[in-house]
Amino acid sequence: MGEAWIIDAVRTPRGRGKKDGALAGLHPQELMARALNAIKDRNHIDPRDVDDVVVGCVTAYGDQAMCIARMSVLAAEWPNDSTGVTINRFCGSGQQAVNFAAMGIKAGEQDLVVAGGVESMSRVPMDADRGGIDGHNPHLRQLHPLVPQGISADLIAAIEGFSREDCDRFALESQRRYARAHAEGRLKKSLIPVLDAGGRLLLDRDEHPRPTTMEGLGKLPSSFEQIGKYVQKGDTLSFDQKAQSRYTNVESIPHVHHAGNSSGIVDGASALLLASPEYAKAHGLKPRARVVATATAGDEPIIMLTAPVPASRRVLKKAGMTIRDIDLVEINEAFAAVPLKVMRDCEMDPETVNVNGGAIALGHPLGATGGMLIGTVLDELERQDKTTALVTMCIGGGMGVATIIERV
Ligand SMILES: CC(C)(COP(=O)(O)OP(=O)(O)OC[C@H]1O[C@@H](n2cnc3c(N)ncnc32)[C@H](O)[C@@H]1OP(=O)(O)O)[C@@H](O)C(=O)NCCC(=O)NCCS
Repeated sequence: MGEAWIIDAVRTPRGRGKKDGALAGLHPQELMARALNAIKDRNHIDPRDVDDVVVGCVTAYGDQAMCIARMSVLAAEWPNDSTGVTINRFCGSGQQAVNFAAMGIKAGEQDLVVAGGVESMSRVPMDADRGGIDGHNPHLRQLHPLVPQGISADLIAAIEGFSREDCDRFALESQRRYARAHAEGRLKKSLIPVLDAGGRLLLDRDEHPRPTTMEGLGKLPSSFEQIGKYVQKGDTLSFDQKAQSRYTNVESIPHVHHAGNSSGIVDGASALLLASPEYAKAHGLKPRARVVATATAGDEPIIMLTAPVPASRRVLKKAGMTIRDIDLVEINEAFAAVPLKVMRDCEMDPETVNVNGGAIALGHPLGATGGMLIGTVLDELERQDKTTALVTMCIGGGMGVATIIERV
């Protein structure tokens, strides 16, 4: 098996995913094209040499339909013979794009691949594709009475005993760490400014973070209490009752998650350049890291967001490592209860996890986030002069994805 090197990583700032967000005026193909051209220009690559462009995107509808990978390659004015493939592993799509790129290169099938993702949540909101909770398949609903992710997150908190205060304290720390990282310029390396078609600056810093206090968080209403009471057409049980029908020990679900301790709705794009050592050496590309191992894992789909635990264990086993061999960890902060559980179950030191904040402060542009996390942790490994990082994300339907990278 060959090696896959990470040559570079870029990301756009995350714009607020609302109509007045700074990136809301930009078509998602254009957003992705900005990331593609930034990675191309920074590394002086000839796009004709790129074997493929792998793009994660979750809600492939409207502006994001029509294989956004290929459309973005064309929008970036790359040559017609450049190809693109769009993949959907829900929230893990961008990370999976990087993992697939690494697999193609390790297998010797490809030499140079760009991988990342894009999501314009302002223009194509979650569920715009009208998949509902389960694609409206009555048989599946009988087998697995799925619930919205916020209910799953509240269920984790109920089972693990994470209080609203625990979740708020985690959220406050995410905001604090982001603020420190921003003030110290730690996020600059990957971050590219986004300009409009006329060359005017749209955004050069993340738009979602906000000054936060425990008192302010304490005042926010629960986001999922009402949804928990909702009974879907044709069902007899509410979402809360469905969750309790599988987790019979849970007498009630305290709805601890809200706008301040859940991942923010934002727009953004990411792109990483991966190469085989042979190609990199022949073309003067300096590696920043190598992909040591990748893994996915599934878990029970109603609680849904717990699979970063088995995915992390599996990737560590594949790499022949333990958590003590890992210097830094990124766990996507989909909801506060997720990283709290993953850190606890995998015995991770919180001081090494999401050291520059996460999606609670910064936002989670679904398909783009995985690429962003890998770039962010690579920047931080270099800043701290450390070696090894593990990145993991929870995923819809009860999946997890994990990647271990090591500086070269
Ligand atoms: C939780 C959720 C429903 C909240 O949505 P929302 O109400 O539109 O959230 P907003 O960011 O607009 O925040 C609403 C209000 O809360 C308050 N607020 C948010 N964060 C705050 C903070 N850190 N401190 C104080 N107040 C805060 C503000 O008053 C804000 O209103 P404003 O922006 O007008 O000032 C949404 O963020 C969500 O669904 N997140 C999860 C997304 C998801 O499922 N992703 C996939 C998961 S794997």
